[in-house]
Amino acid sequence: MEFDIIPWLNMAIRWLHVIAGIAWIGSSFYFIWLDNSLRPEKGEKDKGVGGALWAVHGGGFYHKKKYLVAPDQMPDDLHWFKWEAYTTWLSGFALLVLMYYFAADLYLIDRSKLDMTNIQASGLGIAFLVAGWLIYDGLCRSPLRNNNALLGTIWFVVLVSFAYGLNEVFSGRGAVMHMGTIVGTAMAANVFMIIIPNQRKTVAAMLAGEKPDPALGIQAKQRSLHNNYMTLPVVLIMFSNHYPLLFGNPYNWVLLAGFGLCGMAIRHFFNRRHKDDEQYLYLVAGAIIFIATMVFAAASQNGFRKVEDMGAVDFATVKTLMETHCTMCHAASPTYDEFDAPPAGLSLTDEADIKSSAALIYDQVVVAKSMPLGNETQMTQAERELIGAWVRAQK
Ligand code: HEC
Repeated sequence: MEFDIIPWLNMAIRWLHVIAGIAWIGSSFYFIWLDNSLRPEKGEKDKGVGGALWAVHGGGFYHKKKYLVAPDQMPDDLHWFKWEAYTTWLSGFALLVLMYYFAADLYLIDRSKLDMTNIQASGLGIAFLVAGWLIYDGLCRSPLRNNNALLGTIWFVVLVSFAYGLNEVFSGRGAVMHMGTIVGTAMAANVFMIIIPNQRKTVAAMLAGEKPDPALGIQAKQRSLHNNYMTLPVVLIMFSNHYPLLFGNPYNWVLLAGFGLCGMAIRHFFNRRHKDDEQYLYLVAGAIIFIATMVFAAASQNGFRKVEDMGAVDFATVKTLMETHCTMCHAASPTYDEFDAPPAGLSLTDEADIKSSAALIYDQVVVAKSMPLGNETQMTQAERELIGAWVRAQK
């Protein structure tokens, strides 16, 4: 019996990560919707209530009210929303360490960009996460905090520069995943460092019989709004590792910028819509940006080079390439140290297996250039194009 704990651990943590992420984003969407949908109460009003709404769900009616700053009296039982965010971050960070730091040589380091040890690569990755938060938090504390649109634009430019920088030093896949963790870290830190502490201070002031400082609520609200706009882009990155055509593009940072803008435009459409202000312009803008990004991706796939016509490529050539570059890992008994079984269950020793995996091979070798892993065997562009020509002829 073969038993390797790592892939199971990976699966379990990923499962937790997705569940926690759904809970966090779900409650975040819900509260944004709630906030935007509140309307001034008709008739007799409770003191301090800014708005209220009625909703029906699961066979019952709900009547929600929002107290601006705080109610006069602290309720006995107050619900907090924080563990969804913390669990998402903790499980995400655990996955990052497990996949990209323990196995940095496989997933994070691209020796053709920057040769590093696992420790150096992990240190650099963490430095990016910390720098991201420090810059974002600094921006939010600067006078820019009074101009959300300008603040958001500057943070967006910072993020795109990070994406560019990451792609200069890490593998495409490692770079894109780090962008997700930088944004996700800022979001979770917003909850941990600002939103929850501010709420605690408000509650403490009330319990002490003092008037809570409205600035605390305003600051928390702003961070929560930022999180709202970062949500859709970060979800795309969460599953981006399935899409070599995204992370493997030499201009993946431009694609991230495009899809990020698209996500924010769509989010903005919904935010307005909840306020009964439907502006289809934003939805259309989101769709146009998506299409433009897709077209750019297709054009830039090979660094804007025209792919050479390699003529007819015979199977013997492909088989030799597989033996030179792939089968040390992708074989029933790999000779490559770190694997006891073929990675991703894919063996490339038999003709039938190679042919049936042609499309997968194309994605990884020709489009994303993410195989051979870490370009261990220094496969050349010409060799990739030979495989490309052969796969295209199979269709
Ligand atoms: C150093 C070991 C190594 C080498 C060499 C290597 N691979 Fe891989 N390959 C992997 C690993 C590990 C995975 C799983 C990656 C993951 O989990 O995302 C993988 C995944 C794949 C996949 C994706 C399978 C799927 O179901 O998603 C394809 C296709 C692939 N490799 C093809 C190749 C080809 C073709 C070559 C040679 C040109 C090659 N690999 C060389 C280790 C290697």
